[in-house]
Amino acid sequence: MTKAKKTTRLYEAPKVIPLDRPMTTRSPLSQRQAQAMDRIAGHDPLALLEQYGSPLVIFDGKQLKKSYEGFVGAFKQHYEKMHVAYSVKTNYLSSLVAFLYQQGAKMEVVSGFEYAVCRRLGIPGEDITFNGPWKKNAELIGAFENGSQVNLDNHDELLRVERLAKDIPGKKRIGIRVNMDVSYPPWDKFGFNLASGDAMAMAKRILANPEFELAGLHMHVGTYIPNPDQYRKGASALVELALRLRDKFGVAPGSIDMGGGYASSNTLRGQMLQGTATSPTPEMYADCVTEPLIRAKEKEGYEPELILEPGRALVDDCGDIITTVVSVKPLRGGGRAAIIDAGVNILPTAYWYDHEITPIATEPRPTERVKLFGPLCMQIDVVRPKVTLPSPRPGDVYAIRKVGAYNFSQSMQFIYSRPNYVMALDDEVHVIRREETVADALALESVPDSLMPKGS
Ligand SMILES: Cc1ncc(COP(=O)(O)O)c(C=O)c1O
Repeated sequence: MTKAKKTTRLYEAPKVIPLDRPMTTRSPLSQRQAQAMDRIAGHDPLALLEQYGSPLVIFDGKQLKKSYEGFVGAFKQHYEKMHVAYSVKTNYLSSLVAFLYQQGAKMEVVSGFEYAVCRRLGIPGEDITFNGPWKKNAELIGAFENGSQVNLDNHDELLRVERLAKDIPGKKRIGIRVNMDVSYPPWDKFGFNLASGDAMAMAKRILANPEFELAGLHMHVGTYIPNPDQYRKGASALVELALRLRDKFGVAPGSIDMGGGYASSNTLRGQMLQGTATSPTPEMYADCVTEPLIRAKEKEGYEPELILEPGRALVDDCGDIITTVVSVKPLRGGGRAAIIDAGVNILPTAYWYDHEITPIATEPRPTERVKLFGPLCMQIDVVRPKVTLPSPRPGDVYAIRKVGAYNFSQSMQFIYSRPNYVMALDDEVHVIRREETVADALALESVPDSLMPKGS
């Protein structure tokens, strides 16, 4: 009799495989009611409104420092030779730029305007990386003369830089932006493609030009990237390109710049779970980014400077808008809407995020699911399509949380002027951008005499 073959069933541990995108469904979980609060950035929000008017945008220096140190610390513990070049476009209010520079960040800009914001603060050119697909001649010349690294984006720019370089003394520090298929959809608007050999050809041409130093390879594959593994692939590809250049031409670029795109803890619109639960932490990004670099250092003796260009991951969490309910009304299909005095003119990220709305110091009341509109005379001015709040009344005050990234730089003077922007530093609150007046808004206009109303 043949013995039955004994099969051993080995226990297989379940695996958690992160999704590329957070799940999107309409679960009530992301719409739970936020806890009421009575302090923002260490200050009484009602007293702040009294002093500075409503709405008010406030940045918390303590939180910004914490985000910066948390981000840098996560990378430094794996790879010491690194620095952050803050993505200035994310929020170019001078005080935030100055604050981050004071913490040790360098700067990354994508226009002559942003470059000027940094230089006006006295930030030296060597501490500014100049990216972007369109840089004017005068801006390029100024950046090279100041010792900035300029990352080239396209062939036409390379041709212009080759022509301009002859009249600028010294070696010009050039980086090249590389695009590759690590994110979906791939960002192919920017830089030179890796797979086609374009990036390699550009690097070769730069290395052959005695006017240039190939200072770095750069990539930036998207924004709010939920899967840190994309950075592992990107860093591997850039390191591999750098090593191929070293093998072929004997020179490897001095830096690898992984760009930005690290998610903040905000919750994407319609996402099932809170961003605090789904967004990768800086540690998760750092594990992925540094792994190929550590390997290159240990196996190949190649140790470039690692540059990271975070934007929203640094500044989102430090900003709040304090806003007041101006009216409450029934909606045609049932339910009610509250209109607040802060709309998408100062909060364009409301189109992207379900920003947490926190009631300020209301007495206990039953809650209600409401639609939250801004004050603009436009139906699409929706701050939250649905949010559970203490049954709203005119005069109620809310904090709209984590609004530090992209909201100032993409704000518009549409219908209303921008309000006061303040920053809490230690125990003091400073106005860092005063409320705009009608005169500010109209200062650049002129009206031909023939159009002026008679008698004016
Ligand atoms: C070149 C570059 N670096 C960094 C950033 C910052 O991105 P994020 O705010 O997603 O970190 C951007 C923004 O799109 C960018 O274009």
